[in-house]
Amino acid sequence: MAATGTTASGESAFYVTTPIYYVNDAPHLGHAYTTVAGDVLTRWHRQRGEKVWYLTGTDEHGQKIMRTAEANGVTPQEWCDKLVEESWKPLWEHLQIANDDFIRTTEPRHTERVQEFVQDLYDKGEIYKGGYEGPYCVPCEEYKSPGELLEGDLCPIHKRPVEWLKEENYFFRLSEYGPRLLEFYEANPDFIQPASARNEVVQFVRQGLQDLSISRSTFDWGIPIPWDPKHVIYVWIDALLNYATAVGYGADQAKFDTTWPADVHLVGKDILRFHAVIWPAMLMANGLPLPGRVFANGWLMVGGEKMSKSNLTGISPRELTGHFGVDAYRYYFLRAIPFGQDGSFSWEDFTARYTSELANDFGNLASRVAAMVGKYFDGTLPEATDAGPAEQAVADGLAAAVARADVMIGDHLDFAGGLGAVFDFVKQVNGYLSEQAPWKVAKDDSPEGRARLATILYTAAESLRAIAVLLNPVMPTTSAKLWASLGAEPHLGALAAQRIADAATWGRLPAGAEIVKGEILFPRLESA
Ligand code: MSP
Repeated sequence: MAATGTTASGESAFYVTTPIYYVNDAPHLGHAYTTVAGDVLTRWHRQRGEKVWYLTGTDEHGQKIMRTAEANGVTPQEWCDKLVEESWKPLWEHLQIANDDFIRTTEPRHTERVQEFVQDLYDKGEIYKGGYEGPYCVPCEEYKSPGELLEGDLCPIHKRPVEWLKEENYFFRLSEYGPRLLEFYEANPDFIQPASARNEVVQFVRQGLQDLSISRSTFDWGIPIPWDPKHVIYVWIDALLNYATAVGYGADQAKFDTTWPADVHLVGKDILRFHAVIWPAMLMANGLPLPGRVFANGWLMVGGEKMSKSNLTGISPRELTGHFGVDAYRYYFLRAIPFGQDGSFSWEDFTARYTSELANDFGNLASRVAAMVGKYFDGTLPEATDAGPAEQAVADGLAAAVARADVMIGDHLDFAGGLGAVFDFVKQVNGYLSEQAPWKVAKDDSPEGRARLATILYTAAESLRAIAVLLNPVMPTTSAKLWASLGAEPHLGALAAQRIADAATWGRLPAGAEIVKGEILFPRLESA
């Protein structure tokens, strides 16, 4: 059965991976989309109190990288070093990605284990020598079947001419794994998500699989085949194995046992078959446990096409974070596009959501509440002595929002739905404040009036305490500002240590907390 096994030696980790990215160019929004999603998912699980492992990295071998390096007059290794250090890693830092490891496929911890894995399959008779010729797309690093080409010779993904390759290669007996794969999909209905992706894969496997060419001999930028070093290992076989080599496969058994298999492989829909067909077959052949889930996200589109550098439509994330800020960037794509579907980016839509959801609904709520506690109670959170049905409704709304968000984000990777649940609660608190109108109640100086005012502001501040916890996986900098403004840390500890389940426990922020009006959470946008 798929999913995490616990071992006697330690607590098993919730293990999430991103695709490892080709470093032929700088990252664009499409790459950052998956990496941010994985970061939110893993931060969410950390706040569930689970042990988590989040892996990302770079795919550095193959013809595509080799040609790019040649065109730039440097060696492939020099090219990769430069891009990884100057472009990819700094972007992940900028976007506040809290990955636990970053694997590069040119590292010896990877290349040596890949050779062992392939040697093992060879020794088991899973690999044989044969010949192959067919149309090959270098940007995909994949042989295509003639039937799927557009206008006779165009790759259906890149819309560029394929090349005809004829090689003597080593082959993996993939064709023998069809029935076992189908059985596995049947027994593990959640293995491939969303459902549309699952159906596509099942149909593809039902048509029958061909053996897979796993070596190349016409160029040398790759990991040599150990028993025949004139060949290098096909870049996809090399790349998929990163998920195992990075967590100690063949090197650190204790780490491997507590981390392997991955609970979630996040992938773009264009690389689904590699992960849902070839990868599990490779693991079956080697006798390793299979991953829990492969989740295929959709594409960010520009003008009806997949955004990509090769089509000159790749937008750099920094163009957007410079304008909207990092937290709003992390929020926007997950909120605006149902995870698993394609979506388009537009400045107008981003601006509209920034203004209405982040600045008006959320940011103003936080600043109004802090301002009123400052004005009416000198910044010290009063006690709620007068709570009634209106306050109960807010507490109930919170409990419902936490339950919904936890299942949607934590279990179903429905980020848009989960964020929707949190923002429904934000709206509810805004509605509560408009109804209760504390600014009017403040005019009543009687003890009853003061008690009511105290109760209203306590209710709003306590709601913000929970909102800070729920939004922390998505917008860590904003949530930290809010946490500081609520004076929560001295009483409740660090924000990152707050559990999702506790977010729903009403009354955690104690009276006496020192509330300060902090920085504006979402400043007005400069005109673009
Ligand atoms: N190196 C392989 C992955 C190996 S994983 C063992 C690869 N790299 S890639 O850089 O070309 O693409 C990496 C991921 O970025 C893929 O999941 C791909 O779907 C995603 N995206 C690239 N452009 C994208 C969009 N425009 N939108 C969303 N994601 C897209 O494939």
